[in-house]
Amino acid sequence: MNRVFPKQFTWGAATSACQIEGGVLAGGRTFSIWDHYCQWQPEKILNEDSCHEATDHFHRFSEDLDLLQQIGVNAYRFSISWSRIFPNFCPTVNSEGLDFYERLVDECLRRGIQPWVTLYHWDLPLWLHYRGGWLNPSAPELFQEFASAVAKRLGDRVIHWMTFNEPQCFIGKGLYEGEHAPFFRLPLRDALLAAMSVIRAHELATEAIRRCSASSSGVKVKIGFVTVGIVSVPATEGEADVAAAEEDTFLLGENPLWSASLYLDPIFLGRIPEELPQRFGNVLPDWIERMLPLTQCTDFLGLNLYTAKRVCAGKERGAMKVLSPPGSATTNIGWEVVPECMYWGPKFYYQRYKVPIIITENGMAAHDWPSVDGKVYDPQRVAFLREYLLQLSGCINDGVPVEGYFHWSLLDNFEWAMGYRMRFGLIYVDYSTQKRIPKESASFYRQIIATSGEVLF
Ligand code: NOJ
Repeated sequence: MNRVFPKQFTWGAATSACQIEGGVLAGGRTFSIWDHYCQWQPEKILNEDSCHEATDHFHRFSEDLDLLQQIGVNAYRFSISWSRIFPNFCPTVNSEGLDFYERLVDECLRRGIQPWVTLYHWDLPLWLHYRGGWLNPSAPELFQEFASAVAKRLGDRVIHWMTFNEPQCFIGKGLYEGEHAPFFRLPLRDALLAAMSVIRAHELATEAIRRCSASSSGVKVKIGFVTVGIVSVPATEGEADVAAAEEDTFLLGENPLWSASLYLDPIFLGRIPEELPQRFGNVLPDWIERMLPLTQCTDFLGLNLYTAKRVCAGKERGAMKVLSPPGSATTNIGWEVVPECMYWGPKFYYQRYKVPIIITENGMAAHDWPSVDGKVYDPQRVAFLREYLLQLSGCINDGVPVEGYFHWSLLDNFEWAMGYRMRFGLIYVDYSTQKRIPKESASFYRQIIATSGEVLF
């Protein structure tokens, strides 16, 4: 059986603007909410770490792209800082901000690397935060303007676009649970309103990217939406356990903002999850139905897959959580190592939404540090890569159209409220000198790509 990855597979690494760029006020940029909280409520971030300098990628992007090229990827996923493009609440585009991303895109292409652009990776401009953020009724239109400005400049060169990354986090953790900027604990109703606003913004931005890219070239763009890969995996391959796991994967659960179907059902199925009015009808914003159906088609679904819950079929109905054996492997951030999520996750999501799947993120946080010989050995990440990618190859072999894999992350970086404690990179960063050291896993990933996965077996 041939289980290597297809030759035209997209192999990449991923980052996001706030987590790596720094250059917080460079080139006319202004604060995002994360810059703001780092500045004014530093105690919200572990160790009072700040994202203002991060990995200084804004000034070192060329060196970073060289390292990326050495790994041999054919794609790089990064995000655009909205506050660089629109530093203020006024319709004037900051062309210096666009210049930076244009250079980044051109330098990627010069190295044979396709740029995959995320428009929103949690860094809301402060000026919009002061106007209510995603609760401002005009937020979707403002996002559409941002998308248009970026697509007008880059749309002749960028094929792959992602409008949003993980709404579960910036709405769930940011507006409802108080764990991410702006650290709000709003009523569920308000957070649901923000979620609907984001879905509307996705629709408007998708239209804008298509329109503006088409006018600047004839490039046929592909637009996706990225969600947390919430997955329940079956404890056994028995039919009942598999069916229970699949159903459980898409349930709204205790906190609907944390589910994937809340966002994906409207986008890919043109309806809200049936459970929503049944269970949360009393708090639903009244205009929720008016938003549907969406008219724009979304080309792919991005899954950020890290871990999963193990379940079996319940005695009467539904799924039951299966406890992990004592001492099960967890990564530094506390997430259990569950490689099977790479098999069942894409399979379940494809069965429900019927669009190509991209693994837009996968990786792990570890305690990495340079050894006396100056090298960074990260055997756990090497083992993690092997196990997760073997499962992914099995999934593709079973006919699920998974078209790409992006490792999170290219570099160690600012892990939001966890500061710099969590190191997710293929490349180690010494934050006091900004020196980069490719870890052992970077070289293993290079071999995986070079052999289309043969080295995994
Ligand atoms: C998901 C997010 O998109 C990314 O920003 C974060 O650093 C990683 N997962 C790891 O938590």
